[in-house]
Amino acid sequence: MQLKYSALFQQQCFINGEWLSIGGEKEVITNPSNGEVIGHVPVMGANAATQCVDAAHQAFEQWRQTTANHRADILRKWYELMVEHSDDLATILTLEQGKPFAEAKGEIAYAASFVQWYSEEARRAYGEIMPSHRPHSKIVVTKQPIGVVAAITPWNFPAAMITRKAAPAIAAGCAMVLKPAPETPFTALALAKLAEDAGMPKGLFNVITGDAIAIGSVFTTDKRVRKVSFTGSTHVGKILMNQSASTIKKMALELGGNAPFIVFDDADIDAAVEGAMIAKFRNAGQTCVCANRIFVHDAVYDEFANKLAKKVSALKVGDGFADQVVIGPLINAGAVAKVQAHVSDALEKGAKALCGRLADKGQLFVEPFVLTEMDDEMLAANEETFGPVAPLFRFYDETEVLERANNTESGLAAYIYTRSLGRAWRVADALEVGMVGINEGLISTAAAPFGGIKESGLGREGSHHGMDEFLEMKYMLMGGLDQ
Ligand code: SIN
Repeated sequence: MQLKYSALFQQQCFINGEWLSIGGEKEVITNPSNGEVIGHVPVMGANAATQCVDAAHQAFEQWRQTTANHRADILRKWYELMVEHSDDLATILTLEQGKPFAEAKGEIAYAASFVQWYSEEARRAYGEIMPSHRPHSKIVVTKQPIGVVAAITPWNFPAAMITRKAAPAIAAGCAMVLKPAPETPFTALALAKLAEDAGMPKGLFNVITGDAIAIGSVFTTDKRVRKVSFTGSTHVGKILMNQSASTIKKMALELGGNAPFIVFDDADIDAAVEGAMIAKFRNAGQTCVCANRIFVHDAVYDEFANKLAKKVSALKVGDGFADQVVIGPLINAGAVAKVQAHVSDALEKGAKALCGRLADKGQLFVEPFVLTEMDDEMLAANEETFGPVAPLFRFYDETEVLERANNTESGLAAYIYTRSLGRAWRVADALEVGMVGINEGLISTAAAPFGGIKESGLGREGSHHGMDEFLEMKYMLMGGLDQ
């Protein structure tokens, strides 16, 4: 691996400010593009997880006393280091996750933007003074850091899903224990190295790799952990929520989606095609806000389908470091199998493929699909595909498409394309989701509250709301003020 700053490639966990490998067992991390070994990380368990919580708890007691200015300065330094080392970070990210290098650089910029945002937000944890219900008294509300936060992050955004949790937590005065996805530990460890370089005190940000069940069970049952923040599948989110019930932890859950992308007959079709390209094919379709069901009005269905298929057929698939590649490998064989199941099911039930090719045996590269004549009974309509498949569903009117769009347990994101302001408001209001892109295919930004409703999760990340998630309100009734 050619890195300008070689210390960014760490194969040890970062616990209490030290780089450690406890125990002999190691996990092999491979490049999804070619199966080559990138390196190894320790397989740690419950004892090391408890050590992380001990360290974070101690660090929290100090960190909560620091000034907002101090926290802002350290976060700002972390941000600057991420920007300075973005080529190296993106190299590590592409190697372990597979996304094209340019996209990986985009993710590092996105990840750094959360650190920048919360370095500024650190100073704004304002309280309130409210009119009191009693004479000679005041109601004062202050905000205090919640405590030790346990974060469990996914492989699809190995950098951004970490900073979106860690930056507001640290800005608020909390300490963090983090378990990154088993597929992508090296980006997390590189971020920890930069946190160390930025001057974060020992124990404030700990990264542990290893046995997910053992570590997760410490994170969800240790009384000193006051919040669990998880991004990943709805299935695992439910398990973590159950496990956290005995100690009533605050939960932030960013879970699966099944996003509808609705193109009305009055839409700018070229803009809708551009929007679908990003909403569907970013990260090879492996994002929880990816358009999963593309509903197109009958009057513009063929035009949209043909224009989309033309663009999709031109997408170059391959190794993330190769020239002009925009679709890398999927993360693993399970991801490929899911795509194959959805495509085969659709084709068997009457759908047509305008383009696309399944992965060769043993490979993780899928040529992106556009499927037409989809119906709501097919697998792809009912489960998140998490791959480069654009399934097009035909619809005839607004009421019908709204009902179909909402007919899912998920409620994360939705997209609508229309030129009618009235329809944009009406449909956006009626969609049962946490986020709506209106004539926009990319909604993710540090400036906005990201999150879902229904089984897509709890809580919001990004914006000032993202920091409130790590703060507890304390109300004080101050009486006796006449004396
Ligand atoms: C995710 O897929 O979990 C996050 C996507 C994003 O931040 O855009």
